[in-house]
Amino acid sequence: MAGTASNMIQRTSIIISVFSTSPGIGKTVIAINLAAGLANEGYKVCLADLDLQFGDVLNYLKLNSSNTVAGAQRAYLDNPENFRIENFLTEYRIGKLEFSILPAPRFIYDAYQTDVQILTSIIKQMDYYDFIILDLNSMFSSLNLAMLDMSTIINYIGVIDFLPALKNYKIGYDTLLRFEYEESKIRLIENRADSQKLIEGKDVERLLGEPFYHRFPNDFPAVNKSINAGQPLMFAAPDSRLTESFYNLVGRYTNRQSTVKPEIKSNGGLFSTITKGIGKFFGF
Ligand SMILES: Nc1ncnc2c1ncn2[C@@H]1O[C@H](COP(=O)(O)OP(=O)(O)O)[C@@H](O)[C@H]1O
Ligand SMILES: [Mg+2]
Repeated sequence: MAGTASNMIQRTSIIISVFSTSPGIGKTVIAINLAAGLANEGYKVCLADLDLQFGDVLNYLKLNSSNTVAGAQRAYLDNPENFRIENFLTEYRIGKLEFSILPAPRFIYDAYQTDVQILTSIIKQMDYYDFIILDLNSMFSSLNLAMLDMSTIINYIGVIDFLPALKNYKIGYDTLLRFEYEESKIRLIENRADSQKLIEGKDVERLLGEPFYHRFPNDFPAVNKSINAGQPLMFAAPDSRLTESFYNLVGRYTNRQSTVKPEIKSNGGLFSTITKGIGKFFGF
């Protein structure tokens, strides 16, 4: 089963997938801001846009690149021995912050050529990154299952505002549980948690039998500023509640001890010294 297969992968990166059963609920916003937050704390981060048909990472960051996962896959197929993933990555830089991106294909038809085994090998080749963030789409496809299998952590995102959303969130969670991932690997995350809705978060927790690991507030002005500027929230809306919420989640993933916010790297100011080492990470 899935748990057994993932144990066989010799990885040195922490792979964090961002997954949901519904589209349009904040996976890409979350993936980008996790990548930026981890990079801001000194980690080497790659964000892979694996929403192969409708990937938004480059758009949300106002980047352009013809190097995509489609080209990477073709190059791997042509010559696996000489394949170097570095040649297909795009760097996002703002101030002193930097992370790499593996962009989604530019054309929808390229998404049909997906070879799950090749993509798995490509992601494995990125093991020189401290963190690999996988921005997935909302299907239990063979690609997503392979990626969830490889993941150290699955962030399972929901915006649970009315009954059909609750039903889909529960079905998705039950399906993930059926794959027998270690319990701690699946993290329930509620997005737009404080928006007006017909269903309370605590009722969702009661139904699922599991508390939310994290809740992001609804903050449309901050997200809007971020997407309009093509910048992560910490730059476009540094004082927003959503930015603070990302800071807190990143801190849990890095086992950050300090409760004092480091200055954002673009300010060229204080930057906390990071003790690296996977054994030091919290919770996995
Ligand atoms: N916490 C939030 N507060 C307010 N709006 C949000 C929040 N998260 C996401 N959104 C909105 O939802 C839209 C879809 O988000 P996106 O990350 O593209 O979803 P997905 O990747 O799941 O399809 C964003 O353009 C933004 O307008
Ligand atoms: Mg998306």
